[in-house]
Amino acid sequence: MNDKPFHDTPAIEDVRQPIRDLPVSLIREVSDLGIGKPGVIPLWFGESDITTPEFICDAAKNALDEGDTFYQPNAGIDPLRESLAAYMNRLYGTALTPAHVTITVSGMNAVMIAMQAIVGAGDHLVSAEPSWPNLTATARILGAEVTNIDQTPHPEGWQLDLDRLFDACGPKTRAILINSPANPSGWMMEPEAQRAVLDFARERGLWIVADEVYARVVYDRPVAPSFLEVAEDEDRVIVINSFSKSWAMTGWRLGWITAPPSIGTIIEKLIEFNIACPPGFIQQAGVTAIEDGEDFIKETVAGYRDSRDLVVARLGQLSRVMLPYPRAAFYAFFSVDGMDDGFALCRQVLEETGVGMAPGEAFGDVGKGFIRLCFATRPRLLDEALGKLEPYLR
Ligand SMILES: Cc1ncc(COP(=O)(O)O)c(C=O)c1O
Repeated sequence: MNDKPFHDTPAIEDVRQPIRDLPVSLIREVSDLGIGKPGVIPLWFGESDITTPEFICDAAKNALDEGDTFYQPNAGIDPLRESLAAYMNRLYGTALTPAHVTITVSGMNAVMIAMQAIVGAGDHLVSAEPSWPNLTATARILGAEVTNIDQTPHPEGWQLDLDRLFDACGPKTRAILINSPANPSGWMMEPEAQRAVLDFARERGLWIVADEVYARVVYDRPVAPSFLEVAEDEDRVIVINSFSKSWAMTGWRLGWITAPPSIGTIIEKLIEFNIACPPGFIQQAGVTAIEDGEDFIKETVAGYRDSRDLVVARLGQLSRVMLPYPRAAFYAFFSVDGMDDGFALCRQVLEETGVGMAPGEAFGDVGKGFIRLCFATRPRLLDEALGKLEPYLR
């Protein structure tokens, strides 16, 4: 590394450059100022205020009582891989098998493992912003370069210019990352656009990494369009999913990857060297979530729809605010005319009212002038938060 004696205190310079270059999370910077303080209404993270339903918690407790405390297979336990294959086949009319499915400890872990499999130093990844910064950070950690195409805000929803996405792909590009439904914008890619991305990727031999963790948080249909519906079995498509959002399981850290079986052994190897395996009792709870969780999803998504409609109506009355219509996911990502420092406004609102939100610049330069508010919270609290927030946006 350098010629210092090994017992010298390590300096930041001793850490790999791509890691030193990672930005700190602006979402965390705001939340650190207020998390856990009395009276704070936290709308900064991407999670609901509902705790995981009891029947799922009971499944984990039962598994522990039965002694499920040991290492598990790398790719996950068979019952969960089988349940997930059947679940996706029900939703998408696909013919997936357990061999397509690998269990991970969260969607975040799934993204990292997918990226480890396909990008490294000198490679290039193309994606779109505004976006949850953690997604492309994985490629950067691995030494790859990232180009983000700006999406365009429009009152009817954010738009993505596919030609710009394709033009950004060069000889070093290995993958295109698409997050749909998207955090923070609520944008959703339709099947026609998915087919165009797939055709382009096939032509160029590129991978598609599709982050579909908000697949069920969608308001005009039961499930968002998936790349799984348009891809053939051996297309270079890796789909990321998670239990966090649909089953209110953010703290459990459980997710899954759907990928061509031909790279299954590669993904298994990466699981071994990252986490060895996801915990058994958590996976047992996952089986119960998949088998018995449909009513829970229907109820909670109906609640999020009401919250979405409330936020759209209330923010719609403020002349300085422009909220591109969130078709899916559970965020209002709105611009505030005349505001140039989202972080400062979020801090001020937090300090003066206790309402916690995330500054738009956390999601890329195109997010400057925007604020993200997660509306997956009880209507009474949301109403109270909006009442406190509105004076700052008039
Ligand atoms: C777009 C997107 N992908 C992945 C994740 C990761 O979810 P988890 O790691 O909780 O499964 C999140 C979480 O906010 C997200 O917004």
